[in-house]
Amino acid sequence: TLEVDASQSIAKIQPTMYGIFFEDINFAADGGLYAEMIKNRSFEFDEPLMGWEQPNSDRHSYNNNSGIATIIKYSGDQTNHNYCRITVKDDQGYKIINQGFRGMGIHAKAVYNLSFLAAKTSGNIKELHFKLVGKDKKEIASTSVVVDANDWKKYEAQLTATATAEKATLEITFSGTGEIDMDMISLFPEDTWKQRKNGMRKDLVQLLADMDPGFLRFPGGCIVEGRTLAKRYQWKKTVGPIEDREILVNRWNTEFGHRPTPDYYQSFGIGFFEYFQLAEDMGAEPLPILSCGMACQFNTGELVPMEELDPYVQDALDLIEFANGDVSTPWGKVRSDMGHPEPFNMKYIGVGNEQWGPDYIARYKVFSEAIKKQYPDMIIVSGSGPFPDGDYFEYGMEALKKLNAEIIDEHYYRSPQWFRDNADRYDDYDRNGPKIFAGEYAAQSVAIASPKNENNWECAMSEAAFMTGLERNAEVVQLTSYAPLMAHTEGWQWTPDLIWFNNLTSYGTPNYYVQKLFATNRGTDLMKVTIDGKKIIGQKSLYASVVKDTETNEMIVKVVNTLSEKNTINFKWNGVSVANNATQIVLVSEGLSDVNSISKPKNIIPKSKEIKIDAKDGVQLAPYSVNVFKLKIN
Ligand code: AHR
Repeated sequence: TLEVDASQSIAKIQPTMYGIFFEDINFAADGGLYAEMIKNRSFEFDEPLMGWEQPNSDRHSYNNNSGIATIIKYSGDQTNHNYCRITVKDDQGYKIINQGFRGMGIHAKAVYNLSFLAAKTSGNIKELHFKLVGKDKKEIASTSVVVDANDWKKYEAQLTATATAEKATLEITFSGTGEIDMDMISLFPEDTWKQRKNGMRKDLVQLLADMDPGFLRFPGGCIVEGRTLAKRYQWKKTVGPIEDREILVNRWNTEFGHRPTPDYYQSFGIGFFEYFQLAEDMGAEPLPILSCGMACQFNTGELVPMEELDPYVQDALDLIEFANGDVSTPWGKVRSDMGHPEPFNMKYIGVGNEQWGPDYIARYKVFSEAIKKQYPDMIIVSGSGPFPDGDYFEYGMEALKKLNAEIIDEHYYRSPQWFRDNADRYDDYDRNGPKIFAGEYAAQSVAIASPKNENNWECAMSEAAFMTGLERNAEVVQLTSYAPLMAHTEGWQWTPDLIWFNNLTSYGTPNYYVQKLFATNRGTDLMKVTIDGKKIIGQKSLYASVVKDTETNEMIVKVVNTLSEKNTINFKWNGVSVANNATQIVLVSEGLSDVNSISKPKNIIPKSKEIKIDAKDGVQLAPYSVNVFKLKIN
């Protein structure tokens, strides 16, 4: 018997309860959400011609009779360091090809916006020819652009595709001979999220928006910290004109592992402005996380000396001004110049990502004092590291409590069993202490980053069981997010991930549908619930939580049956009268190792039906099922 005491609300379910953790890992931004199709568009990678091929030209063998591309540094102190000088010796005979991010996903009939900067330096190059080439080297789109200026000039054109290709490439050939300088060679689908020019991939943002996220945490993850401090994420370098955003090697750039990604860089085409805008689009609270002066502790763990922490703290203060300041403030003006004079109303800021130990506490204290002094209402999120059961965790919690921390970010990547066993994790947390942000979690079927680590049904169902525990503790748990969020099927560094995509298409994992189910049924008020009169610890393999939704006038019951057999429950309602018919949404799969995939994206998705609740026989729960019951309040 699932007994609900609806006589009072134990706590408000915060609108931020279910949100999104975004990090540019697994090609989630460059090569993913950011719809740019040209890899290394401005020749800024450490190997400046990475991503580009010159099939009939080879510097080393002197086989460059047709032409050659050379990288030249701009003079002076620029954030855009390089451009490419193309010397064409053979009219139409030389070609340079961009590979895209493991190819370019081109859709038949779709229109693509091409742009580039060019300056003719010598000779008589008249026209540039652009060709998208698909499978079997077949042309699927082309356009030509007359180049007429000796000085840098921006050129734009469009290509319309005649066929679909998952791994197209862009070939450029030249009419005439001579030298031409090129930079920022860019290709975007015209059809982007909200039709913003050179914006985000629509299918991917739609999957995010469909989750109705309460917050968007950005930009990570370990990329906030960097492997070294010099390589940390610096938000100021990610705003303003796109061509002035200095690219940075991605912390997840790796030559090793199952899927080497030595070509992983951050163009910052999605920078802080775009993150704020995305949060606004989805009605989510923006939650930026900043470096606290500690590089990734799994790498160098490099520390900024305490006496040199000021610029880091200033970055946080300036960010608040960028997000919320009046247009008359310097950073408010930068935001306004980018097209958003209204403030973004940022309420939360994170200090440090996954940091732990005394070095973190010392730095956090300085940040928190400075932020609160200037912005007393700003809510600060602090880190606790990735060891949810260890000594560091205990130490951090105690130290942060003493500093009156408001929200502590906990991370756990553990086995499905751990998630089921820890559904009561927050039952005994201090109700008067800091609130909890379950900021990164995911059940691991095997081990992090193993190709065998899957988003299988056992993981998703176990997360759902655990999430009922998060929800039952909404007094302390106020923000939660699965991590990582996205992965390119051919460019990942970490598994499992909530959403998978290739160049053409994307799908939500069963874990995604669990997140979506909880988020879209989050309710407004927490009700007390017991199973057979006892607190819920997975008795009879059942996990449950109950919320009331004062807007829809419903009781919403979430029940997870982790048993391999059917389970039956009877509802007992105290303090409320509910209808005896209900909507039951079921997410279920027979096999614990079942998954969704590119070819079977909807193998496991929620299904909804209307049912009558039989007061005597109760309701049946399918084996291994996640259930949401919605009952109207009489
Ligand atoms: O989500 C992947 C990584 O896990 C994050 O970058 C980091 O915060 C954690 O270690």
